[in-house]
Amino acid sequence: MRDYNNIQNEGLSRVDSMSKKELFLANLEGRWTARTPVWMMRQAGRYMQEYRNVRQRHSFEEICKTPEIAADVTCTPVTLFDLDAAIIFSDILFVVEPFGFKLTYEPGPAIDPSLSSRDQAGRFRPYDPVDHLSFVGDAIVDAKRCLGPDIPMIGFCGAPFTIFCFLCGVQAARGFFKPYKYMMNYTEETREILQVISEVSLEYLKMQADAGADYVQLFDTFAGELSAEEFEIWSKPYLDYIINGLNESGIPSGIFIRNSNHLIDSISSMNMNSFCVDWKGDLRSISNRLNPKILQGNLNPNLMLGPKEKVIDKTLRILESMRDYPGYIFNLGHGVLPDTPPENVRAVVQTVHAFER
Ligand code: CP3
Repeated sequence: MRDYNNIQNEGLSRVDSMSKKELFLANLEGRWTARTPVWMMRQAGRYMQEYRNVRQRHSFEEICKTPEIAADVTCTPVTLFDLDAAIIFSDILFVVEPFGFKLTYEPGPAIDPSLSSRDQAGRFRPYDPVDHLSFVGDAIVDAKRCLGPDIPMIGFCGAPFTIFCFLCGVQAARGFFKPYKYMMNYTEETREILQVISEVSLEYLKMQADAGADYVQLFDTFAGELSAEEFEIWSKPYLDYIINGLNESGIPSGIFIRNSNHLIDSISSMNMNSFCVDWKGDLRSISNRLNPKILQGNLNPNLMLGPKEKVIDKTLRILESMRDYPGYIFNLGHGVLPDTPPENVRAVVQTVHAFER
């Protein structure tokens, strides 16, 4: 058996002749490939010394809103760890600013004022992302220039329900009574707000695809707080709206939901290409219940804080369980944590690359 703890010197493993982009897109189309592509949510971030150096000179907002810097931060982990896809460095919350909300990061996000009264619903008028969020498109163009045509680029936005939670003042995944209070008391206004966010988000993702994003992911991080029945009311219709629009434009899409186990039946009837699974469920058994069948996930990011050997062991067990599975992209079950040793990110990528299916 190959020694997975000692594969540093094998170089960039190419077990087949596909480019990274071809490999990524083949899996998104549900084709079996000899090698598994790997990327990680939050692959650029504070766990990297290179990122912390940039952060000493620039605030998070400055990085995101200056295309050359955002592009540079996007590319660094891809080249450093040999990842198979780039995700544009940005955040899900910039969409709220053109509605007239002030957004600050310390580094957790805060939105002012928070959404609590009925009359605030009047602020939500559709706007053109090209007029207000073009820095994201420009960063994609710059990053593609630096990475070349063979690396797939991932665009993203927040899902309407998750953006709504932040608007209502959910912080550090606490305070879910706030969006409930608004939804239950101002139901019609909530629907209008979610619809406007959906329309803007669809245009925003199309803009990212026009700039060069090959795949776009919707982050519905907080949808797992909803019951299965509530998900059908407060999240799914808006995700469907965006995904149907993307499908009409031929843009491949995926969704990430944290704590999604109780939502799998609902998710199963949705039309995105792929689903990004959090770490709590077993990938292979979820695949049997889920249509779309293309899966991403689901190494527990907390395990990445431990010794490399344990990380490699769990990575191999996930790969083994998905060995014959057509349409699988390795990822974590949530973002890379700031305390993660970079060697563990490297070890995961090398293990995935060295694994011949
Ligand atoms: O994945 C990537 O590498 C691309 C960049 C990316 C960021 N945020 C950078 C970021 C992506 C895809 C996001 C999405 C995002 N942002 C989500 C959905 C995914 C998830 O994590 O559930 C959410 C909920 C947000 C909102 C947000 N932005 C939070 C809660 C925080 C604070 C958390 C933290 O790590 O401090 C941010 C700030 C943020 N977004 C940072 C980064 C790298 C930290 C900023 C810094 O300190 O430099």
